[in-house]
Order: sequence, then structure tokens, then C-alpha cells
Amino acid sequence: MDDFAARCAAAAAEAQAAFAAAADAETVERLRIQYLGRNGIESALAAAFAAASPSEKKQFGPAYNHARQAMRQAWEQARQRVSTQAAEEPIDVTLPPRWRRTGSIHPLSRLADDIEAVFTAMGYECVEGPHVELDEYNFGRLNIPADHPARDHQDSLWLADGLRLLRTHTSSVQARVYAEVGEGRRRPPFRCVAIGRVFRNDAIDATHDVSFTQVEGFVVDRDITVAHLVGVLRTMLSAVLDRDDVEIRLRPSYFPFVEPGFEVDVRLLREPPASRLSRWMELLGCGLIHPRVLAAGAAELAEWSGFAFGMGLERLAMLRHHITDIRIFHGGDLRSLRQFA
Ligand code: DAH
Repeated sequence: MDDFAARCAAAAAEAQAAFAAAADAETVERLRIQYLGRNGIESALAAAFAAASPSEKKQFGPAYNHARQAMRQAWEQARQRVSTQAAEEPIDVTLPPRWRRTGSIHPLSRLADDIEAVFTAMGYECVEGPHVELDEYNFGRLNIPADHPARDHQDSLWLADGLRLLRTHTSSVQARVYAEVGEGRRRPPFRCVAIGRVFRNDAIDATHDVSFTQVEGFVVDRDITVAHLVGVLRTMLSAVLDRDDVEIRLRPSYFPFVEPGFEVDVRLLREPPASRLSRWMELLGCGLIHPRVLAAGAAELAEWSGFAFGMGLERLAMLRHHITDIRIFHGGDLRSLRQFA
């Protein structure tokens, strides 16, 4: 306790100097916490004083009180000084406002969110699969035979082990979900939608990129027909494009994992005849799920039926925003991306 008076005097002098030098409200507040805050210097002195004997209290009382007052006064003065300073600073109303840069959601993320919203409203579940996929899920279980050109090293990006590759489509998620039935972790009926990146060893140009985004939708239930598929595609496209003049047409096509299979074209009826959007544009592949694909996941699934479709998101985003070059989506040029904020 011997040096208590000296500690009081030192604390007061230090606080006075510090508060007098503070130039702004932030510094004053920081000092207030340091000197007068709950764990500050004043509290430390108070604790020491409280622990002193009655005779010591008498001896050191005046020094202690003086230090407390000096610290509070120093704070009070500093606080007033910085607040009048701020008030006196002239405001130049002619200055341009400070440029605040707000971020924006990537057009593909927005589209993905919108698609998920449309499908969850129809009772679909959002599912995912890995980017690095086994040959088995990407090809084998989807009835894609060993000599199918899509397996070619020209088209796919393989890992060194030769068993895994960067998935070439989100149809791989179908294979994974059907396998869950085989493992007893899922039971039909179900409706799923999977959105994610896919990868191909493509040459990059205005309509191709090595990585793009796909949405895969699939339904497994009793007595599913092409009419169900068409109804769902119409609903999705008019909701996402926010138009009631979306016309679609189905052309027979071949995909190993569906039978029958179709390619779907889309056009917008109310666009002027000269517009590209008034002409048929190829948008997605679809069909009724091949029984072999269902059976590859679980024998019991062979008794069920379903439809599936797969679509590139970039294509739809281009249609939505009238974009003509696919490279802007992954080019990372904020000047282009901000336009869709
Ligand atoms: N996986 C196909 C592709 O990437 C797209 C596709 C076509 C998905 C038909 C489907 C489908 O589900 O039924 O080219």
C-alpha cells in the first residue's frame, strides 16, 4: 500500500496528458475504457483502496479522490472538445456523395436460386453430388456403355487413377440418389433437383466453356408419362423467364439413360419476328428414365417409373438477360457482371 499515493498521482497525470492529446471521439472513447472502464485503471485503484485498512483509508483517501476526479474531468473536457469540433466542421453540400460499392449476386446464382424456388414449391428436394465423381456414377450406372464417346479422354477430365473424373453432367446425381434406395436410405416416390458445376474438355468459344452449370431434375413415381414432364418444363420456364408466351417443342433424341428421349427447344412467342428469341433454340435434354438406370440403384426401382431432364444454366441465363457470350459468366469481369445486379 506504500506507493498507493504515487500510483494515484501517476494515473491522474497520465490520464490528463492522454485525454488532452486525443483528437477525435474514437480515441476519447478508447481512453475512457482504458482509464474509467470496468476493467480500467480507476477500477484497479478502487480495488486496492477497498482492501486497505481503516487507518490507511484515512491516509490515502484524499489522494485517491483527487485522482478519480482528475481522470473524470480530463475525460469530460476531452469529450466536449471533440464534439464541438465535429459540430464546427463546415459541411460542403456541393460535394458529390461518397461512392459506395454494393456487391451483387452473380446472375447464375440468382437463376439457380429461382429454379430451386420453383421446384421446391412443386415439392422437389434439392440434392447434391460431388464434382470429382466415380466413373460408375457418371457413366456406368447411367447406362452409358464403355465405348460411348462421352467417356473419351477428349471430352472428359480424368484424375490420374483413371477411376475418377470431373463429372461431365449432373445426371450423376440421379445415379447417387437411386443408390440411396438400394442402401435403404431412401424410398420412392421422390422428386429431386440438383444444380451444380460440370466439366468438359471443350474448346472455349462464345457458346462453350470447360466448366458450366447444369440443373438436373428427376421424378420417380407410379405411372409417370411424358405429359408430366412437359407440364413441369412449361411451369419452370414460364416462372423463371417470367413470361406467359413460352412455347416449347420436343424432338426425339437419344440419351442412354432415358427411353424415350427428347431434346426440347424453346421460343418466345411475343418477341418480334426478327429477334433471335422468337426462333427455336435448343435448351435441354429429357425423357422417361431408362428402367436399367433405376434398377442399377435398386432392384425394387425397376417397378417404378420416372422422368428426368438436364439443362445448362448458362443457356437459360443468356436467354433471360439477352447475353450473347457465355464467357462473361466465369470471366470474373465485374464490369459485365454488375449489369445484372
Ligand atoms: N446429361 C445430359 C448432358 O449433359 C443432359 C440430359 C439429357 C439429362 C437427358 C437428362 C436427360 O436427365 O434425360 O448432356
